[in-house]
Amino acid sequence: MEEIDRIINELHLYEKKVLKSLESSKKSLTPEDVVNAQKLDIKSVMSAAGSLASKDIILVIKDVEETLSLSDDGENYAQEGLPERKLLNLLQQEGSVHMKDLGVKSGLNPSDVKIGVGWLVRKKWAKINQGEVTITDNGKEMADNLQEDEKLLSSLLEKGRISLNSLDHDLQQGFKLLKSRKGLIDIDKNTAHTFILTDKGQDILAKGIVIQEEATQLTHQQLKLGEWKSLKYRGYDVKADYPEFNPGKMHPLRRIIEEIRNVFINLGFDESKGPILESAFWNFDCLFQPQDHAAREMQDTFYINNPSHSQLPDENLVSKVAQAHQDGGVAGSEGWGYLWEKEVARQSVLRTHTTSVSARFLAENEPPLKMFSVGKVFRRETITYKHLPEFHQVEGIVAGDEINFRNLLGILKEFYKKLGFEVRFRPAYFPYTYLSTECEIYLPEKESWIELGGAGMFRPEVLEPLGIETPVAAFGLGIERLAMIRLGIKDIRMLYKSDIGWLRKLPITQGVDIED
Ligand code: DAH
Repeated sequence: MEEIDRIINELHLYEKKVLKSLESSKKSLTPEDVVNAQKLDIKSVMSAAGSLASKDIILVIKDVEETLSLSDDGENYAQEGLPERKLLNLLQQEGSVHMKDLGVKSGLNPSDVKIGVGWLVRKKWAKINQGEVTITDNGKEMADNLQEDEKLLSSLLEKGRISLNSLDHDLQQGFKLLKSRKGLIDIDKNTAHTFILTDKGQDILAKGIVIQEEATQLTHQQLKLGEWKSLKYRGYDVKADYPEFNPGKMHPLRRIIEEIRNVFINLGFDESKGPILESAFWNFDCLFQPQDHAAREMQDTFYINNPSHSQLPDENLVSKVAQAHQDGGVAGSEGWGYLWEKEVARQSVLRTHTTSVSARFLAENEPPLKMFSVGKVFRRETITYKHLPEFHQVEGIVAGDEINFRNLLGILKEFYKKLGFEVRFRPAYFPYTYLSTECEIYLPEKESWIELGGAGMFRPEVLEPLGIETPVAAFGLGIERLAMIRLGIKDIRMLYKSDIGWLRKLPITQGVDIED
């Protein structure tokens, strides 16, 4: 469709009516003209004109008009004369009068005397010397003439309203004088609009427009009887610009966390939580991590000063854990062969992984069970584009008689598949698992695999002190890296930067839908 036809097709009925009026009126009109000619209300006319103007079909010219009229006080003065005029009349007869006699002799009230004397001096009609008010030559001359302000007052009295623009030079001077006196003249501001057809508007009229009712809302009846087929509709430009708007939405990291929670909930896992401020006991000892293990060093773990120590669980569990470390204890292994210290286990740390939540859960629950947990963990990392000292992990355990390492790999495969990733496994080592593995996912654009987390079967040295008699498959996976891949960002810090421009540009729904 030709551009002009498209524009015509999309014109609103009221826009057409405004244009029609302009056609018959030689191309310039006021809104009121259109109101009268088309029987529309002024609001509709103005909004149609605004819309036409936004499409360059007409120009809307604004003229601010100020109209003057007399206030009640002004009308009084106009009828009676200004106070200085009354005083001048008196002075003309008497030549000079003492201030204190002005009121009585002129019949003016004290406040008008004050005003009058002020203006006598300002207009140079009189002089005051030691209280004596004397007419000047100028005053004598003006005795038979009207000053400009007085002329304006009498014109206004005669005509009622006068437009400011129409005042001649004299009356303009008069207006200046009167304006400086409070409350004599009322000024009405009125914006007058004129519509003028542009070239584009003329082209449209040359093409011809048809005024015809258009269907805006369909009734049940019209739909049922098929009348809708013969109705006339206005065209819509579905490609029209729209105002940019920024709806509220979940932060992308939060979103992926919710997505992950959904996956596990749908796989039938229970959700658990544990403290962020943790004892070394639950974070390390209970997981058969020896007390001189590198991960426990100050360089890797945040130790807390206040409270510097945390409570240990019941003595039974503590002594079994101690034994497991020292000589393997009930697990029948050799243990680590060193003297386990309670004080070390009581130290407060920021948890370095969510595996502590799994340990706590196993101490309190009996298999069979499936548990997952999502939370923040903390490590003394220098901040770089791929490392943060705090990040999120999703941790999980599956415990039951039949559970084995293959099940674990199956669960992980399923989990990553639901998030849209392909996963592979490499052998790994963790003090608390055997067999152990690391999960890696494939990054097609980098043509490489990246490591996302660990998993394995909890060792007897972990399980026996906790009183668990079935195999337990366990995993702990990083979340920020997944988010980076999903969002296509190269710097992990972006996730914590609150870069409003970037956040606004992200789609509201990001990522793969989760099937139930
Ligand atoms: N805790 C390990 C980490 O933070 C990940 C992990 C490995 C968790 C093996 C587990 C597991 O539950 O069995 O890197």
